[in-house]
Order: sequence, then C-alpha cells, then structure tokens
Amino acid sequence: MKRKLRSGLSASLLAVAACAALHSPYSLAARDAQTILKETCQGCHTPEADNALSRISHQRKTPEGWLMTIARMQTMHGLQISDDDRRTLVKYLADTQGLAPSETDGVRYALERRLNTVEKFDDQTSQMCGRCHSGARVALQRRPAQEWERLVNFHLGQWPSLEYQALARDRDWFDIARKEMVPLLAKRYPLDNPAWKKWQSVAPKSAALVGNWSFSGHLPGKGELAGVMTVSADGSDTFKISVKGQYADGTPFNGDGSAILYTGYEWRGNVTIDGVTMRQVFAVQGNAMQGRMFEAEHDERGLDFVAAKQGSNRLLAVQPGYLKVGSETEVTLIGSGLTGKPDFGKGVEVVEVVEQSPERITVKLKAAANAQPGLRNVSVGSLKGPTLSVYGTIAEVKVVPEFSVSRIGEGGGSTPKVQGRFDAEAWGKGADGKPYRIGVFPAQWKVEAFDDRAKEDEDVKFAGTMQADTGVFTPGDAGPNPQRKMSTNNAGNLKVIAAVDDAGKSLTGEGHMIVTVQRWNNPPIP
Ligand code: HEC
Ligand code: HEC
Repeated sequence: MKRKLRSGLSASLLAVAACAALHSPYSLAARDAQTILKETCQGCHTPEADNALSRISHQRKTPEGWLMTIARMQTMHGLQISDDDRRTLVKYLADTQGLAPSETDGVRYALERRLNTVEKFDDQTSQMCGRCHSGARVALQRRPAQEWERLVNFHLGQWPSLEYQALARDRDWFDIARKEMVPLLAKRYPLDNPAWKKWQSVAPKSAALVGNWSFSGHLPGKGELAGVMTVSADGSDTFKISVKGQYADGTPFNGDGSAILYTGYEWRGNVTIDGVTMRQVFAVQGNAMQGRMFEAEHDERGLDFVAAKQGSNRLLAVQPGYLKVGSETEVTLIGSGLTGKPDFGKGVEVVEVVEQSPERITVKLKAAANAQPGLRNVSVGSLKGPTLSVYGTIAEVKVVPEFSVSRIGEGGGSTPKVQGRFDAEAWGKGADGKPYRIGVFPAQWKVEAFDDRAKEDEDVKFAGTMQADTGVFTPGDAGPNPQRKMSTNNAGNLKVIAAVDDAGKSLTGEGHMIVTVQRWNNPPIP
C-alpha cells in the first residue's frame, strides 16, 4: 500500500472538491464497490469474518460522513483513490451502512449547511465534543462502544495538543472521553438499531421519484417562491432534473441539473439556476421532499424547500401566510392534488377564486373586522397542514437568525465573503395572551455597534454594508486595513436592526452578528 503523502494537497481544498463530487453522478463504468474495498482499503483494513473489514464494517453514517472519512484516508494516511472509485464507494457505503431517516431527525441542519444554527446538546457533549466541530457531526454516526472508543483514541493521537486547549486543560479530557462519553455515545447512537433494519426493508425504489414535483420555498432577503421540478431517471438512483418556478415578485427561478439518491432518501442535487450552481440537500419522505437548496459557492444563500409529487395529495404552503383583520389580500396555496374549496377558518372569507389548478389555488381573502387574531388551520378538501395568521397589530419583531456569523473575504484572497442574510419576523399576541408567529414582513435594515468596544473601533464603518431594503449584509474585504487602529482587519461586532411598519407605526427587532475572519477549513459536515 502506498503511504506517500501527496504534498500540496490541502485538506480543506480536498473537502470542497469532495463536496461537489457528492452531488454529481458517478461514472457507470466504475469498478464495483467490493473490488475497490478489497484492492484499495484492504491494504490497511484487516479482513474479518462475513466479508467484513476492520473499522469500515462497524460504523454507519451519512453520505457526507463517508466522504469525509475517505477524504481523511487520503489526506492523512496517503490513500490513493480515483474520484470515480470514491464516488462508487460513498454511494455503496451510504446505501449499505447509512442512517435511517429517523436517525437524522433534528440534526439535518448540518447536512443542509445551516451554519447559523445554535446547537442544543447537553453541556458535557458540547464541551467534550462540540467545541471543535458541530455536535451534529457526532449525532450523525452510529457505532458500537469499541468504535466510539477508537474514535476517541484517534482524536488524541491525531491532535495531541487537544489536551492543552480550553475545555480540556481544566479536566482530564481523555479519561472523561473514555469512561463517560464512550458509554453515553454507544447508548445514544448505537450501531444496531431496529429503525435501520426496518428502513433497509421498506426503502422505496428510486423509480418512485420520477415525475413532476410541485414545490414551495422561501429565500431570506428575497421572499417566497413556487414552481415545478421535473425528475427523470438517468441510471440507477441518478436523475436528471429541471426546475421551473418563480418568486412571488415575479423573478424567474429556472434551471437544469442532476441528482443522486443515497440510502433510499438522501437526495443530493446539483442545479444551475440562471448561471448559478445550487446544491439540493433534501430528505425524501414518500411523496414529499424537504430540505434546503443553496448556492454552491455561498451556502449562506439558500432557501427552505418543500415539494410534493404530482398525483399525490398534499397541501404544502400558503403564500403569504398572513392577513390583517379587516383587510383583503390575495393568497396562493401550493401543493399537489388540490381540489375543492379552500377553507381558512373563522372570520376569513374567500371573496373570489382567482385561479385554480391541482398545484396552486389563488384566492382573494377578506378577514372580518371583528376576526379574532391568531392562527387558522388551512384546508382544501381533506388536505390540511399549513396555517394562516390573522393579526390586528404586530406585537413584536424578531430578527432571524437572532445570532449569526458573517465573514470577511476576497480583498485579493481566494476565499469569498460570507454574507449575513436576515428576515424580519412579525409576532402577534393571541386572544389567550400567547405570542404567535405572523410571518416574514418587509423591513428597513441597519447595523449598529454591538457594544462600546465596537463603537470605539468603528465597526459599523469598516465591517461591511447592510442593504436597507433586503436585510442582506455584505462584509468588508479580508486583510489588514491601514485605516483601522493598528491596521487590524475588517472584523466587527454588530447589532442587526429591522424596522417593520405596522400601519404607520414603526416596530423594531434586534439581532446580533459577528463579522469574523475567513473559514479556512470547510468540510461537508461542519
Ligand atoms: C494507508 C492506510 C489506509 C488505507 C489505504 C485506508 N485506511 Fe482507513 N484508516 C487508516 C487508519 C490509520 C485509520 C485510523 C485513524 C483514523 O481514523 O484516521 C483508519 C480508519 C478508518 C475508518 C474509521 C474512521 C473513524 O472515524 O473511526 C474508516 C471507516 C476507514 N478507515 C475507511 C477506509 C476506507 C473506506 C478505505 C478505502 C477507500 C480506507 N479506509 C483505506 C488507514 C488507512
Ligand atoms: C480538538 C478538537 C476536537 C475535539 C475536542 C473533538 N473532535 Fe471530533 N474531530 C475533530 C477533527 C479535526 C475531525 C476531522 C477529521 C477529518 O478530517 O475527517 C473530527 C472528526 C470527528 C468525527 C468524524 C470521524 C469520521 O471519519 O467519521 C466524529 C464522529 C467525531 N469527530 C466525534 C467526536 C467526539 C465524539 C468527540 C468528543 C469525545 C470529538 N469528536 C471531539 C476534532 C475534534
């Protein structure tokens, strides 16, 4: 087995190239996975009973997880493997040693690259395991105790300085990891799980995905969109797709691309929309798909996406999802198999059906002057799901995300800027006194110094520019700035302020944004 390390191959570059690979079809002429395992991995991984290989056969993970492991074999252990073989192997391992849909519940944000997520794990797990990478990276794996222990050993062996870092030098990290974390992880994330066995027997065939999918989405800073995604077969578990849609403001959202299905539900697509490459990370659940679609080069620019297969019956969304007491507005329902008259609950009257097809119904609605503020369940025939918010006045405005990170970039360097993208969410107070979400409102945006330090350093002036109408923040250039004190870079600590107009009254909400330096290491799972 060749052990020579490839010089000049940076781990982060490999990770980026590898991530793109996950979304593009692999060559059909490729060697089969068993041959690759034998000829490429077996040099270091010992054969075991039942056609198994040491380490490899005792773990389950996502396609991204397998990709990262194999990429590590390349960068750290000198594994030589072609891109085609790696794709074949990732597909095979994700299919045969993947996670059941339920095993990814609650941590899909990491796969969907929602990097502003504030994670919720217990303190011990966050401090021991969630300080270098996301807790989701841990939660998206399944292993027996022995494999969790080897992972701990590998961590310390590979990065011995971890014991001297914050949150390790104040405790016996290795001892706690072995004696407390390993049993906990083996119990919480076990290799053997009935959910996986079950999934392997019920996972649908990919032919079931071929057809037209009606979709609805929302892009922060831009608004809602809807359309149809056409999926056609292009090999086994690989597809050609074409997307035809538009934003609520009329901007087209059209493009073509391809997708791969891993593990019977992990949909990874690559679509070019108006010249911009976007990735799709969706989970397929029967006749529905859900997830996030984001720009390949700017994963902060992404939209929440739900789709329903045409021919199935599903109500996906109401756009926009709110209506003011005593007012009239046009609302569109998006879904599949929409027949019958839509109903919006008490105090909301359908004045006119403007347009109706099985995929969309546009109606003119009127909320009575005495309609009770609060959420209404929307239905079309027997289909239910989304809600409509009826409101009188806005009680509160929230900036979403409440806490976020943007990053300086460019300035002669190779790393793009990471923008801040915000929505202003209006909240009302129900008759029961409880707050309820009304929806995303247009707002006027600005940034202010977060504290005295930021004020003194003039962070507002240097850290970047907020687009007043859209809530899109573009950070400053990377590198030292001679105009700043001690020529420091354009980092900053800012308040993000949204002002929403409610019948002449301005209400503001506030978020917090750190503008920081480039992310040099950007693996598929953060
Ligand atoms: C040159 C030797 C070498 C080759 C070739 C090699 N590995 Fe590894 N592998 C290692 C070493 C060393 C470790 C333990 C340290 C680590 O996890 O990085 C390991 C660990 C692993 C693990 C466990 C990782 C974990 O997180 O616990 C998996 C899975 C794995 N390898 C998969 C593969 C696959 C798949 C191939 C073939 C495509 C492969 N390896 C080829 C050396 C190799
Ligand atoms: C000192 C920083 C640090 C700490 C602390 C840390 N990790 Fe990691 N971990 C890493 C790095 C770096 C990698 C990436 C290796 C790679 O490139 O694949 C990694 C990779 C992983 C992987 C993916 C391995 C694979 O190939 O599948 C898992 C799972 C993981 N860590 C779990 C844990 C757990 C559990 C803990 C706590 C007991 C922990 N980590 C603590 C730095 C850390």
